Amino acid sequence: MGQHLGAIIAGTGSYTPQEVLDNDYFASYLDTSAEWILPRTGIRTRHRVAEGETTAMMAKVATENALENAGMAASDLDHIIVGTVTADRPLPSAACVLQNLLGLTGIPAWDLQAACSGLVYGMVIAGTLIQTELYRNILVVGAEALTRITDPEDRNTAVLFGDAAAAVIMQPSPDPSRGILHSHLGSDGSKYDYVWIPGGGSAEPASEKTVHERLHYMKMRGRELFKFAVHTMQASIDRALEESGLQADDLKLIIPHQSNLRIIESCRTRLGLPREKMAVNVDRFGNTSTASIGLSLDEAWRDGTLSEGDLVMLVAVGGGITWGAVILRL
Ligand code: ACO
Repeated sequence: MGQHLGAIIAGTGSYTPQEVLDNDYFASYLDTSAEWILPRTGIRTRHRVAEGETTAMMAKVATENALENAGMAASDLDHIIVGTVTADRPLPSAACVLQNLLGLTGIPAWDLQAACSGLVYGMVIAGTLIQTELYRNILVVGAEALTRITDPEDRNTAVLFGDAAAAVIMQPSPDPSRGILHSHLGSDGSKYDYVWIPGGGSAEPASEKTVHERLHYMKMRGRELFKFAVHTMQASIDRALEESGLQADDLKLIIPHQSNLRIIESCRTRLGLPREKMAVNVDRFGNTSTASIGLSLDEAWRDGTLSEGDLVMLVAVGGGITWGAVILRL
């Protein structure tokens, strides 16, 4: 390895499916209401994939947008990492399906499963691979068709999740003051059943029983997860600031995973930050898991909220339980 290289973002892209579901849609067939959903979650709408539309298809559009944003062609990519819990099929990876949709062969393509922390995990790994100088143009995608694994009859989860994809292309920069300045990742497997899909894996392979008992759908212990997520996200933000030697005020934007507006707001008010310093998209897209941070990053990059030289923190907590944060100078 040569001198320290900055691992910078060369381009971003995103995609959300066309169909939009508002809170009244759920109230029309479930024992719920907009008056319950909005104040407890901050969610007004979420998007849902069309019949036949898959995670890899969404990832392809997000990738094409990121390539265009970076001024690159698909053939410039030399590594593909997809964070997802909703690959098109259990086998092969969504990344290999995406690779094929992009018309690429030969380069490594693989999925990582860190639930909602997937994009942060992927960017940290991409940054590390860039340091090895083995790869130069790494595509990191967070893509989820969560409505495919959400039980439409379960009011505890049905209202929360949406579908989307986001892509980030990472590249080396000779300027070590740019790119990832701090990162940390963590997990606590003792809480694996806070949010999980009990059926369809090696523990409970698909059977008539697993289908009948709806074990292929996501189950969530919402209240416990909420408490753990608030505490863990706050601790992750504190750790990232402390270890980087930065103050919250130094950051142009904090982009947290979007699971619940109350979690985001508790982190923001604790730091004493104005609203515009903490990205929010959960109101429009619901919880899009690995896509949520990338959606906000792409939006902020394109609308000029963020520009080269700005400091930004990405911070996530998700199933597993997993968590992580990065601070980047763009
Ligand atoms: N409509 C009406 N009532 C509902 C609904 C609904 N859509 N959903 C749940 N309820 C009921 C429950 O049945 C429960 O009733 P009970 O008390 O009779 O059993 C009650 O509402 C729970 O109410 P609250 O305690 O007020 O709900 P809470 O404030 O915990 O909000 C929520 C629930 C929104 C799910 C919250 O717990 C949450 O956001 N949890 C964390 C989610 C999270 O952090 N996810 C991130 C990691 S995982 C991932 O992103 C994939």
